Amino acid sequence: MMLVQSPNVSVQPSTTTINEDEHLVIGGIDTVELAEKFGTPLWIMDEQTILDSIKAFKEGLAGYPNHQILYAGKAFLCTAICHLIKKQGLGLDVVSPGELATARAAGFPAEIIFMHGNNKSAAEIEEGLALGNVNIVIDNESELLMVAEIAQRLGKMVRVFLRVIPGVEPDTHVHIVTGHAESKFGFALEALIPLVQRIQSFDGALQLVGLHAHIGSQSHDLEPYFEISEILADCYKELLDSFQIELPELDIGGGLGIAYTDADKPTSIYEWAKKTSEQVAKSFKQRGLALPKLLVEPGRTIVGTAGVTLYRAGHKKRLPSGVTYLAVDGGMADNPRPITYDAKYTACIANRMRAPIPDKPLGLVGKFCESGDIIIKESYLSAETGDLIAVFGTGAYNLSMASNYNRTPRPACVLVAGGKADIIVERETNEDLLKLDRVPDRLR
Ligand SMILES: Cc1ncc(COP(=O)(O)O)c(C=O)c1O
Repeated sequence: MMLVQSPNVSVQPSTTTINEDEHLVIGGIDTVELAEKFGTPLWIMDEQTILDSIKAFKEGLAGYPNHQILYAGKAFLCTAICHLIKKQGLGLDVVSPGELATARAAGFPAEIIFMHGNNKSAAEIEEGLALGNVNIVIDNESELLMVAEIAQRLGKMVRVFLRVIPGVEPDTHVHIVTGHAESKFGFALEALIPLVQRIQSFDGALQLVGLHAHIGSQSHDLEPYFEISEILADCYKELLDSFQIELPELDIGGGLGIAYTDADKPTSIYEWAKKTSEQVAKSFKQRGLALPKLLVEPGRTIVGTAGVTLYRAGHKKRLPSGVTYLAVDGGMADNPRPITYDAKYTACIANRMRAPIPDKPLGLVGKFCESGDIIIKESYLSAETGDLIAVFGTGAYNLSMASNYNRTPRPACVLVAGGKADIIVERETNEDLLKLDRVPDRLR
């Protein structure tokens, strides 16, 4: 078997090359042509990199008998991506009615849709169940009661998972940690036994399929996953001893990181999938438990490295303090990660890939009205007004977190493959922004 390189260890998409014009080429297409044809800012998604990431997960998990990869749609979802994920045989995590509607639009099979979130409404749960036998990941006790009531009213047996807080923290930004004791997501481990008793009291309305834990996002290490394997195996053993039930499935979440800069050294997708699944098998076997079907929920690692944002450089200025800023035609509205998490990125000059590297850095800044709208604080680019700037690693949590701040239409997104570019999300227009506005008569 030919092993693929796991894209998450590289800053650039798998298909990245430079052509004879010294232009950046992705998916077989000159990015300068992409900018001319589709305008800037532009999100580019490289299909091959997404496929390589999926392949790396599949190969890493191949040694574990029964498993399913669920793509965490919050990283980036649109109907085309849903189709691509479905074609690859992946399941889908959704966390909102909009993500569920996208899954429905793509004809996603209900049995491999997992509904997450800490505040699902009754309407949302009913919408999901209307699609078929979706899986509901229960976050809290009042949600448990709500789902049980709906199941009883509809006369359905609903597949549920319980999200637990394992008390494990990956080494990542505090806003993207979710496995720590004070997390807003999930149940404390001590609540498990009474919860299962509660589920049993609903006379078969709820089928408890498994436990779920997700420790957080952009974790580079394996240790937190080894720890949660042990903790969750302890829980399965406790449930076996207390209720004589062996839960058939186990969902260990996502959260593996990608390289945004050369300084980032995340565990590769392949190694993560292989070592984590081996640890799960070991933890369960050591306790004399049958191996559950293993579910993993990657988001960032599937689409992150595939994404590149193209910007056009505008005004450049040098302050008396010596700092130089180059402003581009996008920023925090299309990529809120730097201002939210102090996220780091790598950029290049897409139309002059062999431009000299300057001694002094410049600040690559956005055009939005916040001082924190800085894409890269110190970027070693000899870029000038009019250059095309490509920022790597923008496939995850960019388009999905984008806003219309400063009343700015969101950019278009193209999927590139084999020298062809297809629009998968159209560019918004000012008309799109205006069409939802209403003016009360008294103001006219
Ligand atoms: C429950 C759950 N699963 C999966 C993910 C995907 O995480 P990542 O994109 O870091 O792989 C998230 C992200 O926050 C999550 O909350």
